[in-house]
Amino acid sequence: MNMTTVARPDIVSQIGNTPLVELNSFSTSSVKLFAKLEWYNPFGSVKDRAAYWMVKEAERKGLLRKDKSVIIEPTSGNTGIALTGISQALGYKVEIVIPDKVSAETKKILKRLGATLHETSDDLCPRVGAGTDQSISLAKAISKPRPDIYYMPNQYENDANFLAHYESTGPEIWKQTNGDVTHFLTGCGTGGTITGTATFLKEKNKNIKIIAIQAQKNHLLQGLRNFEESSMPDLFLRRQKIVDEWFTATNEESFRLVKALAVKERLLVGPSSGSVMASMLKAAEKLESGNLVGIFADDGTKFKSLYDQQGVFTDTEYYNILKNAKNLSKPAYALV
Ligand SMILES: Cc1ncc(COP(=O)(O)O)c(C=O)c1O
Repeated sequence: MNMTTVARPDIVSQIGNTPLVELNSFSTSSVKLFAKLEWYNPFGSVKDRAAYWMVKEAERKGLLRKDKSVIIEPTSGNTGIALTGISQALGYKVEIVIPDKVSAETKKILKRLGATLHETSDDLCPRVGAGTDQSISLAKAISKPRPDIYYMPNQYENDANFLAHYESTGPEIWKQTNGDVTHFLTGCGTGGTITGTATFLKEKNKNIKIIAIQAQKNHLLQGLRNFEESSMPDLFLRRQKIVDEWFTATNEESFRLVKALAVKERLLVGPSSGSVMASMLKAAEKLESGNLVGIFADDGTKFKSLYDQQGVFTDTEYYNILKNAKNLSKPAYALV
């Protein structure tokens, strides 16, 4: 049976304009914490924005041919899901180079959406840097000899990834907070989300503090990177000065906050949202007043196997939160 379902091309009009919600049980009367729920994007994560902007840019440059081109990309999952869903909807095939450590659910979604997978034994977030970057090298090796067929967006270097957030995430946060945002926090993989959103926000108000979150070494936080284990991608290097402060999130605190968000806010979040929540609380502790906005990049529905393995939820707890969660949106791939 062919499991591939091609979404309609107009699905891309649903990318962005995600909700910003206050985390009432963590806010105080003077320090308010808000989460931008990126799983409301049609393919379930913040990476829909980067994927769409990169495909749009390639179309604009005439690099893609409908029903002929194959888009190939190294990714830890969310970019792969977004690129596959968007490209299929717009008429392009997709091949994804993915570290074998990525969750089983993520790989299943990619296959269902019709991507061809190439697995490598890379870090959870593909390594960047000559000699270490298995997924990136493999994608380059496959695509380079066949430029007539293959197009590799390369989110680690492609400025469309930055522009996606400069043109969408930043303006949305500014509007949703009526310009009253004091701190912006997000986890970092390619650095597209932080550099794009922060550049826009700082142009509006240079006093907004930008806090970047990296994962601990040897981490389990899909989508995030540790910058000692892996070099900083070119895209991030170009604008890294935009960051005012760096936090490192541990596996333990991230999973603890995944659980706390389920219990206190009825939110079922992915691991990197736990990292952002832990960092928002650390930043809030030092403040007398402020409005902090954090990116919750994806929800917890792709991570049951990881949460089982790490003892985050019992089966009963997981299915309870899945049933009773506030603010869960059905991604397009759930219909496949
Ligand atoms: C779950 C998750 N959080 C955060 C990020 C970081 O995004 P960026 O690549 O824009 O730095 C990603 C990127 O893949 C992600 O998948």
